[in-house]
Amino acid sequence: MAKGFYVSKIVAIVGIVFSVAAVATVIALAVVYAQEKARNYDLQNPPDVSSTTTSGTSPTSSITTTTTPPSDEPWLKYRLPKTLKPDHYDVRLRPVLEKNAEGLYVFHGKSEAFFTCEEATNLVIIHSNKLNFTTNPTAILRDSSGNALTVSKIEEVPVTQYLVLHVSTPLEVGKNYSLYTEFVGELADDLAGFYRSEYVEDGETKIIATTQMQAPDARKAFPCFDEPAMKATFNITIVHKPDYVALSNMNPISQTNITEDGEQWTQTVFDKTFKMSTYLVAFIVSQFKATGAAGTSDTIGVQIWGRKKAIEDEKQGEYALNITKPILDFFAEYYNISYPLPKSDQVAIPDFNAGAMENWGLVTYRETALLFDPAVSSISNKERVATVVAHEMAHQWFGNLVTIQWWNDLWLNEGFATYVEYLGADKAEPTWNIKDLIVLNDVHYVMAVDALASSHPLTSKEEEVNTPAQISELFDSIAYSKGGSVIRMLSDFLSEELFVQGLSTYLKEFQYSNAVYSDLWTHLQTAVDKAVPSINLPQSVAEIMDTWVLQMGFPVVTFDTKNGLVTQKHFLLDPDSNVTRPSDFNYNWIVPISYTKNASPGKYWLQGPSETNNDFKLAENEWLLANINVTGYYRVNYDEGNWDKLIAQLEADHSIIPVINRAQIIDDAFNLARAMYINTTRALDTTKYLSSDFEYMPWQAALSNLNFFTQMFDRSEVYGPMREYMKQQIYPVFKHFETMTVNFTVRLESLTDQYNEINTVSTACSYGIPECTELATKLFNEWKNTNINGIHPNLRSSIYCTAVAQGGEEAWNFIWGQFEASDNAQESDKLRAALACAKEPWILNQLLEYSLDTNKIRRQDAISTISSISSNVIGQNLAWDFVRANWITIFQYFGGSSFSFGNVIERLSRRFSSDFELEQLMLFKSQTPDLGTAARALDQAIEKTQANIKWVNGNKVAVLNWFKSALKPRNI
Ligand SMILES: *[C@@H]1O[C@H](CO)[C@@H](O)[C@H](O)[C@H]1NC(C)=O
Ligand SMILES: *[C@@H]1O[C@H](CO)[C@@H](O)[C@H](O)[C@H]1NC(C)=O
Ligand SMILES: *[C@@H]1O[C@H](CO)[C@@H](O)[C@H](O)[C@H]1NC(C)=O
Ligand SMILES: [Zn+2]
Repeated sequence: MAKGFYVSKIVAIVGIVFSVAAVATVIALAVVYAQEKARNYDLQNPPDVSSTTTSGTSPTSSITTTTTPPSDEPWLKYRLPKTLKPDHYDVRLRPVLEKNAEGLYVFHGKSEAFFTCEEATNLVIIHSNKLNFTTNPTAILRDSSGNALTVSKIEEVPVTQYLVLHVSTPLEVGKNYSLYTEFVGELADDLAGFYRSEYVEDGETKIIATTQMQAPDARKAFPCFDEPAMKATFNITIVHKPDYVALSNMNPISQTNITEDGEQWTQTVFDKTFKMSTYLVAFIVSQFKATGAAGTSDTIGVQIWGRKKAIEDEKQGEYALNITKPILDFFAEYYNISYPLPKSDQVAIPDFNAGAMENWGLVTYRETALLFDPAVSSISNKERVATVVAHEMAHQWFGNLVTIQWWNDLWLNEGFATYVEYLGADKAEPTWNIKDLIVLNDVHYVMAVDALASSHPLTSKEEEVNTPAQISELFDSIAYSKGGSVIRMLSDFLSEELFVQGLSTYLKEFQYSNAVYSDLWTHLQTAVDKAVPSINLPQSVAEIMDTWVLQMGFPVVTFDTKNGLVTQKHFLLDPDSNVTRPSDFNYNWIVPISYTKNASPGKYWLQGPSETNNDFKLAENEWLLANINVTGYYRVNYDEGNWDKLIAQLEADHSIIPVINRAQIIDDAFNLARAMYINTTRALDTTKYLSSDFEYMPWQAALSNLNFFTQMFDRSEVYGPMREYMKQQIYPVFKHFETMTVNFTVRLESLTDQYNEINTVSTACSYGIPECTELATKLFNEWKNTNINGIHPNLRSSIYCTAVAQGGEEAWNFIWGQFEASDNAQESDKLRAALACAKEPWILNQLLEYSLDTNKIRRQDAISTISSISSNVIGQNLAWDFVRANWITIFQYFGGSSFSFGNVIERLSRRFSSDFELEQLMLFKSQTPDLGTAARALDQAIEKTQANIKWVNGNKVAVLNWFKSALKPRNI
């Protein structure tokens, strides 16, 4: 799956405005575990939001518990026995998009699973969850000649989500069997399995039936051997109303009109799939329209599907259409394997929990991740479409053609896609330099998470991942962003050429099958061994990579340029934290080091905890810069003298230092300060030169890190001098963009220039630079007065937020009206985020109430709305009170285990830095009976608040004095 919604830059930027929390930027200093979940790319599984099950008589179907089974019976184990192996499924489903007599939406299914017996057994165990079987007996087991076998007992086991058949005569090894069932399932709006989504078009509510099988929800649509290694072929048939269209992984091969339940239906039969995993199966019934072309016998069909208005009237699918084919072509060339399927459909779903899902040949997306309207979408919306499409296309081979053996290797699947999504997007948009941005979005981002003692290694043991909840936990930022970071490092030290050689032979060996991560290392090693000219690695690919994937965290590499000593140490954000997790490598890594000394490049492998190299010993006038372009997954520290020289170089002429490393110096310095390796004032020193740097990456690194200072101090006396300093630093940059963009009327070409213009306007307006707030007010009033929105999409988030903050109830009502009228998801997100910028408590309280009312705000957006309010310094306490007062309601609204829960706790507690706030958290913990998945986040919040209290006590005076002394005589 692809990135989730919290990554959205629009939201991030609104967060900076009004100096409240930057929502999803690299908040290196204010990190907790919950944040990783928040940003989480594709976590789905709001498990069991649907409380209702269809009327039926299955004896045990309403009991669900996830406790470890007490006995050793095979049907009480979460993993399937190895006795049976599926070959093929015939699945026929008829979703009814109208309520039945009981007021439920349901689907009717008939399914036959064909399998081979691999070990003699008298049990047939197959996954099935929340399906109500409608025949008596529940299931028919046949041998390959079609004769029914005698079944002594059939039972459903809800805890492990199985249907179990006990047969009298054991199944024989090598023989084929099939299991036939008929069933009814609920088409709930729970975003999992076969589910329902609704939207309004021309005043009419439209319903679609769609799927999200990953990770373990195919079993909610039909009985199946629901594990990724249980690959099989699928013949899918969908029965739907004639004015609807059905889509699935493959092309339709026939359509016939039939009558069923006294009504007319169309039966669409799809071509047989290739061998594939159940989690990649997909089907959709909708009245969507498409742009693009269905394939022919020798061309691959590429189509973008969505609401009629978005696709036909507003042409919002054109951008995705234009880039999908080039991206597919790029990956075919990159992997050296042609696209395996006859077509690739991309579908924008109005309700979607993840960012996107790579179902083979039928990729589903949240609307904001696929649709793009140049009139209302910003450049970051465009970047998101390009990267998400690239991510999902990358999976069509890596993930779909070759699939991980079990979910414990999820990090390989997602880390790989995270890395190559930048390569794919770079092909689609070669002028963007988008590859650089992985450093901010993933490397720096995840280091903040991975620097906690509570982090975990990329790998987990197969036997430790069993339950749906354990699987769901794996979809975190470590898997995605750390996975992407270490794979990028690997590709860099091998060279891209060798990397793709090994990759390609790996994919060819395991196509239509499954592999484990070490299989990839084996193929890369083969490429290394064959390389001409030969390449020098200190150890094998597997030995080097083991140090990065088997142990959590990463090193800080310290150079002492007085004597050439280089050392490594496990980097922990909190130096007092207690690492209880043992490591076979004693937290030592094999580190590929690239560096620049006097403008000449060098490379070095650091293997031990401490080594000496004369190259790192400097003369008086020399400086050293290490980890060029942050291709390595580690932080860098230097002796005081070299820090002085680097900062002097930044101030004298920053262009000598590559732009990525300017961001690195800032981000490393702030994190090193947090971990007490260097003084906080040293970190602040790295921001002094910024008034003359107009580049996005260093500014973004600084803003993200300073955001922590804002959170800690925006309710204290430090805030005044800090605001003056920020104004002083941003003002020349604001003036620069004012000139370059002719008073913010024309857009610059480069992606990062556009981003920095956005950041600059946000920052300038939020700290109250008059030219900025005047500009915002003027643009907003023009819109309000003429009803024509002339604000460029890039600037909308900042301008809307500024206008709402400045304009009181009247501005808020205007934006709310626009929000209600908007049917563009990206525009709606911007408007919704701006609503949280109000300064009047009663308006913010009203918005909190609205967030739990599905007639006003979509359920998928509730958590992010509450979070935006809590980012606002005025809304913070209101949101905290609201969530505590309404905990039970919220809990039911989302189901007790939704991942977003932990996130909301993390967001609500970000500013907490006093003993009083700590007590409130403890009290909440002790008085709330059922915290669900928020329990872990609450513990993290308590830990983080304790750390904040300590940090504020230790730094407040020094920071206040630093800001005061950094102010130049008043000039603005
Ligand atoms: C599956 O569909 C293919 C056509 O796509 C057909 O040839 C085949 O007979 C079907 N197999 C089964 C078992 O129904
Ligand atoms: C570092 O990144 C920049 C920008 O992408 C690129 O131009 C430069 O070649 C890279 N430097 C090295 C040593 O790879
Ligand atoms: C830019 O626009 C603002 C707001 O309309 C205006 O006050 C200012 O004079 C303009 N600046 C320039 C340089 O034209
Ligand atoms: Zn993915």
